[in-house]
Amino acid sequence: MVRENAYVPYSGFKVGAAIRSASGAIHVGCNVENAAYPEGTCAEAGAIAAMVAAGDLRIAEVAVIADSPHPVPPCGGCRQKLAEFGDPDVPVVMYNTQGEMLRTTIRDLLPGGFSVDYMLRS
Ligand code: THU
Repeated sequence: MVRENAYVPYSGFKVGAAIRSASGAIHVGCNVENAAYPEGTCAEAGAIAAMVAAGDLRIAEVAVIADSPHPVPPCGGCRQKLAEFGDPDVPVVMYNTQGEMLRTTIRDLLPGGFSVDYMLRS
């Protein structure tokens, strides 16, 4: 559904994401591209922004869908963004429009990731 609203004049690759937050609310996002290519945003980033705008800060589950030969995993930057708001064991479920599904976790998507813990000084 939200995937259909993706703005993708450059890649033609529509992605949709949904986040269930700790409150139980569902927050959705789609990719929004830009003529200045690096300014484009991923579906996951849109869903995170919607969650934060709604006043939720903790992710309970993530779903991503695209029309792709295989279920599409979040990009590296989105893995870092998801880790900011989700515990390592949060499920990330990836789908394609043919109904294939792959399940993983934030931990498995971003082993050894940077976090606020590394900024703590003794
Ligand atoms: N994209 C996402 O929105 N999420 C992903 O998980 C992978 C890639 C978008 C970014 C860009 O608009 C298009 O897909 C092609 O990379």
